Amino acid sequence: MAVKKRILTGDRPTGKLHLGHYVGSLINRVKLQDEYDTFVIIADMQALTTNFKQPEKLGQDIREVAMDYMAVGIDPEKATIFIQSYIPEIAELTMYYSMFTTVNTLRHNPTVKTEAKERGYQEMMYGFLGYPVSQAADISIFKAHLVPVGQDQVPHIELTRKIVRQFNELYKPVLIEPDALISEVPRLIGLDGGSKMSKSLNNAIYLSDKEEVIGKQIRTAVTDPARIHPTDPGHPEICTIYAYHNVFNKEFVPEVTVLCREGKIGCVACKSKLTKVLNAFLVPIREKRKELEAKPALLDEILIEGTKKAHKVAKLTMEEVRDVMGLNYFKKQGN
Ligand code: TRP
Repeated sequence: MAVKKRILTGDRPTGKLHLGHYVGSLINRVKLQDEYDTFVIIADMQALTTNFKQPEKLGQDIREVAMDYMAVGIDPEKATIFIQSYIPEIAELTMYYSMFTTVNTLRHNPTVKTEAKERGYQEMMYGFLGYPVSQAADISIFKAHLVPVGQDQVPHIELTRKIVRQFNELYKPVLIEPDALISEVPRLIGLDGGSKMSKSLNNAIYLSDKEEVIGKQIRTAVTDPARIHPTDPGHPEICTIYAYHNVFNKEFVPEVTVLCREGKIGCVACKSKLTKVLNAFLVPIREKRKELEAKPALLDEILIEGTKKAHKVAKLTMEEVRDVMGLNYFKKQGN
């Protein structure tokens, strides 16, 4: 049997996951977990780059993320779910990478750039500037071939490739240059219609949201502002609800495109159709999550076991890294 290729992907634990996470990367992870040896990182250290004032929230947020993973079908029998900070070798590798990664490279990273534009470098933490380097370590310490992520993460994968190339040239070619696998739906628009769905923008529908909440949120979602009366001709291409139909209710799209343009369906009716479809989609996810919420010890066990397994892999790579860098000072050559 051929050895499976490896996936490494994950999220910062900042609370419950939403539909944007689902279409951006969770779907791909569920699809690929049979075909690939999958590792899913819960990047708590990376979360600290912005949440360092409330580290006490991480324990709960890690569990929320893990429950969402399993609720959507990431199976811990197939995919190894683990916690970043429990694998100190990742921090170690980050340190070595940081020796040959220029500040200038990091200043060109779009996430860093945005932050610099908004608040300036004066306020920027060293850990934040360097988090793309840490992400390169997350990926490469597992020798991952593929990284299924949302579009916004692509620059991080590019940097990982660059760092790996440099490392392999400087020392010995023992690390793997990973490829990004970008979701078919590049990003899901938020309920406000203005930008991407995100927790910080407060425009998200969560995988764990209850039925009543979904109905309310969809009712308040922004649609085509030109439509006052249900008979006004609509512009589906600028409508949030249409964008959601496009992802979660594909069969309805050809029909609703015409109905909306001709003013034959009102936004209220269109929204109520979407609410039904979304709720049907979320029922099994909610049920699975409820089961997990009732078994906190099992959840912890899964995380501990996953982390142990990931730790073993990371240790092997670090041994090799130290070997090729010549840092194993007390090891006899040839051993
Ligand atoms: N930066 C990712 C996010 O914000 C989380 C992450 C950390 C990650 N390490 C990773 C994603 C490694 C893919 C691979 O969602």
